[in-house]
Amino acid sequence: MAERLKKTLALVFLLTCAAGFAAGPVLRDAWGQARPDGPLARRRPGGRDESGLRYVGSETCAGCHTQQAAQGQTPMGRASQRAADCDILKARPRLTLRQGRYTYQITRGGAGSVYTVSDGVSSLSAPVLFCFGQGAAGQTYIFRHRGTHYESRVSYFRALDGLDITIEHPRAEPASLEAALGRPMTSEAARGCFGCHTTGGAGAAGLRLETAAAGVSCEACHGPGERHLASVKAKDLKNLNIYNPAGLDGLELSQEFCGACHQSFETVMGLENQGGAGNVRFQPYRVFNSRGHLTADRRMSCTACHDPHGPLERDPVKYDANCLSCHLSTPKEPKTRARSASPCPVSTKQCVTCHMPRVELPSMHFKFTDHWVRVARPGQSVPR
Ligand code: HEC
Ligand code: HEC
Ligand code: HEC
Ligand code: HEC
Ligand code: HEC
Ligand code: HEC
Ligand code: HEC
Repeated sequence: MAERLKKTLALVFLLTCAAGFAAGPVLRDAWGQARPDGPLARRRPGGRDESGLRYVGSETCAGCHTQQAAQGQTPMGRASQRAADCDILKARPRLTLRQGRYTYQITRGGAGSVYTVSDGVSSLSAPVLFCFGQGAAGQTYIFRHRGTHYESRVSYFRALDGLDITIEHPRAEPASLEAALGRPMTSEAARGCFGCHTTGGAGAAGLRLETAAAGVSCEACHGPGERHLASVKAKDLKNLNIYNPAGLDGLELSQEFCGACHQSFETVMGLENQGGAGNVRFQPYRVFNSRGHLTADRRMSCTACHDPHGPLERDPVKYDANCLSCHLSTPKEPKTRARSASPCPVSTKQCVTCHMPRVELPSMHFKFTDHWVRVARPGQSVPR
């Protein structure tokens, strides 16, 4: 715990320093809005105030910014789909799971899918509204029942090519058909889900699902584009009126910007038991804990290894340049100001295969890449 406290203080210190170097005295949050509530405050996407600005849609953005246009095809760009467009359900017209006395079915028909649970005597059904997740690991379904949004009790998992119980839902047999449907969401929870998985689906005032764009697209990260379009039209390149995260330091970018959805150190510290073994999914938290890598240096930020506009790089060799931008290759190599971190006594390539091991999360049927960069000794348990 003392270690964690030190890290929290380190974060406060680093962010305070960052504020000192920033152009103005007021720190900005990930969307360029002034944060009146202190350096550690973080706003969820659903909690920010867009001041009624209009979203113009990613196709309009992509029309001028061809270099970033492929973002729409990435899993993040497709983090949710409306049922009518849902690729996984389109390709699988009937998914079923039997769990105790309950039978689950997701069946395709017309321009959508219907989610049904039955106990052999009676059944409850609802049309699927949204599919959440592209299914790298899995996909969960959102529907309405008696006027409330629900998260389905069963999800699709890629490794099974079929259904199983959704992560964090109790496996014990539910007491009633209604309870077997899934989890009713409070309006705050629904705002969170749609805030992280759609663009413009949740604002300070609540849900706006009619006008939301499915997936995390341009304006989820850059903010609504209405004023930007007006500036570009007026050829006012001095006031582009669009948020560019390129100006953030490495900590702000990882912890606050990407961390607003991928879960920062600060958020995870607020979870019961720090989210348990499941926190291996929370990359900003994991990087933060990694010895030597808690830094505002952009070389260790999320965008040093990932282009948010492009596909995830799968070739481990491609990450070596990042590690070797700080680490020496051999002990003989002279240290420089930029490159002074210790060399590896074992290998000079494919660093991530040993130091960012894949960790299986059984409830997700998926191996996540552990961003707690470390020497992972055989037999040693995964740190939390
Ligand atoms: C009509 C063309 C056009 C459209 C549409 C357009 N932009 Fe731009 N955008 C520009 C131009 C021109 C610039 C300034 C030069 C540059 O950076 O390419 C720019 C700059 C930017 C920048 C960098 C800003 C900075 O301060 O450095 C971002 C980020 C951006 N646009 C995002 C978007 C997003 C998101 C959308 C959709 C909501 C969008 N643009 C729509 C033309 C356009
Ligand atoms: C508005 C919320 C949001 C923000 C902000 C966000 N992400 Fe994501 N990201 C997601 C969601 C949701 C997924 C899961 C997509 C899926 O598989 O369905 C995801 C997935 C990813 C993936 C995995 C892609 C794959 O191929 O499996 C990477 C890498 C990623 N994000 C990087 C980033 C980086 C880097 C940033 C910051 C620049 C960032 N994200 C900011 C919501 C967000
Ligand atoms: C704080 C932001 C946030 C909230 C709230 C959130 N998610 Fe996610 N979700 C993410 C990010 C980031 C990822 C990608 C990393 C991961 O797999 O954990 C993700 C991944 C997923 C995945 C796995 C995707 C894949 O490709 O394997 C599913 C399914 C999912 N979320 C469903 C939901 C549902 C359903 C809700 C609401 C009941 C929800 N999420 C709420 C940010 C969020
Ligand atoms: C997950 C968040 C995210 C999404 C979604 C996203 N961007 Fe970005 N964008 C960023 C980040 C982060 C940067 C700054 C990159 C850096 O500093 O390395 C950026 C930078 C840019 C820039 C400025 C490039 C420069 O050289 O300064 C433009 C233009 C841009 N994005 C356009 C778009 C467009 C168009 C889309 C949709 C097709 C989009 N972005 C979607 C996070 C995102
Ligand atoms: C030093 C390089 C590095 C940095 C920094 C980094 N990542 Fe990764 N990330 C990786 C590698 C390597 C993979 C695995 C790629 C593959 O599947 O082959 C990965 C995979 C992912 C995935 C896919 C899910 C998984 O577990 O495989 C997500 C989401 C992700 N990173 C988000 C982030 C976020 C958010 C940040 C910033 C906090 C970040 N990453 C910082 C190297 C990095
Ligand atoms: C911003 C610079 C920077 C980057 C980028 C970076 N490191 Fe490090 N790393 C350090 C520093 C500084 C230390 C701590 C002092 C030392 O070992 O020299 C460290 C420590 C380590 C350690 C020892 C950790 C421990 O628990 O003792 C490992 C292993 C490591 N890094 C691997 C990597 C790998 C693999 C990558 C690429 C995926 C990477 N680093 C990227 C700067 C960096
Ligand atoms: C085949 C697995 C493997 C690969 C690949 C690998 N390492 Fe290592 N690395 C290790 C092991 C094992 C240790 C612990 C050695 C020991 O303490 O005896 C280690 C130790 C380290 C250390 C700690 C050194 C110290 O002085 O404490 C750093 C830093 C490091 N590696 C960085 C890297 C970088 C950077 C790369 C890529 C250029 C890399 N490693 C590739 C297995 C690997």
